[in-house]
Amino acid sequence: MHILHVVGARPNLMKVAPILSALTQYPKIKQTLIHTGQHYDTNMSDVFFQQLEIPAPDVNLEVGSGSHARQTAEIMTRFEPIVVERRPDVVLVYGDVNSTVAAALVCSKLQIQVGHVEAGLRSFDRTMPEEINRLLTDQLADLLFTPSEDGDKNLEREGIAGSKVHRVGNVMIDSLVRLLPVAMGKKQSGLPERYVLVTLHRPANVDDDHTLKLILGYLLELNNQLKVVFPVHPRTRQRIAEFGIDASKLDLLEPLPYIQFLALQCHATAVITDSGGIQEETTYMKVPCLTLRNNTERPVTVTMGTNILVGQDGARLRSELTKVLEGKQKQGTVPPLWDGHAGQRIAEILSKL
Ligand code: UD1
Repeated sequence: MHILHVVGARPNLMKVAPILSALTQYPKIKQTLIHTGQHYDTNMSDVFFQQLEIPAPDVNLEVGSGSHARQTAEIMTRFEPIVVERRPDVVLVYGDVNSTVAAALVCSKLQIQVGHVEAGLRSFDRTMPEEINRLLTDQLADLLFTPSEDGDKNLEREGIAGSKVHRVGNVMIDSLVRLLPVAMGKKQSGLPERYVLVTLHRPANVDDDHTLKLILGYLLELNNQLKVVFPVHPRTRQRIAEFGIDASKLDLLEPLPYIQFLALQCHATAVITDSGGIQEETTYMKVPCLTLRNNTERPVTVTMGTNILVGQDGARLRSELTKVLEGKQKQGTVPPLWDGHAGQRIAEILSKL
């Protein structure tokens, strides 16, 4: 059997690594890895391949950036001949990025089975490009690997046959479980005992001049009280420059490699983010997480984990942070099947096809 994996953006890489590794236990399965090149900077891609020990991709489509239509179309155009030539039995797509939906659409038209890893997540917010990607990819997929029960329920509601759905747990947590011991050993040189780790890249937060100014204003105010550590996504850095915002009083870092970022996360007093994956990682590590969004496609991080949705509400952000600083933060538990073995469960299902 030939399984072809498609990755494109940074958050795909923590998800593909455990599956690639688990499938090596099945000698009859041949694997091919395609990188679309949606993310191309060394610190958004190459360094993650190294740290997560992902083999070099067989092909890099080098699509780069562009509008949604252009990027998605470019991935489809460059990916189709690869699939025609290599004729995989199953194509695995990951998460909710443009590369995910583009590859799924190409394969379904060529009648090649598609497996979606991290299926069923819904924010119910169609202004998010990722929500469109999730909805479409799940409609096209033949195998849907969900991380939690809410995913199964969403798919059922959308009329997807239960026989296609496999609840396997969270593959991103597999990578975390594997590398957390390494990260915990990393000393945080030059940082105070208490600090807040921030990430920000959602179009809804950074593409609007007023909203981005507002959020950076909160961070500047917070920084007077507590050190703010802020590795900045390329999209956000571009917007800060474009809108002429003065963020010079904030310590803006380059995007960090996986292990260094995990080290900062696990020792943080709190994390402020709009990322999906970080809501999950903080839940696993029981680090307080304040999410700058009004909704989440990962509701278990709120119902079971340490995540709190604060939207863009500065007063709420301050009051939740005060609770954390007073030691009165929300307590959380780790959702079922977030145990480091999701990749093995997926490999086992694939090996039986
Ligand atoms: C993408 C995903 C998002 C995911 C995020 C993680 C989609 C629709 N969005 O958003 O779900 O959470 O990745 O990072 O697929 N850029 C660089 N270097 C890079 C990559 C991007 O400079 O290596 C810049 C480009 O100028 C680009 C911008 O960042 O225009 C945004 O990149 P893009 O891949 O379009 O979306 P992300 O915001 O990264």
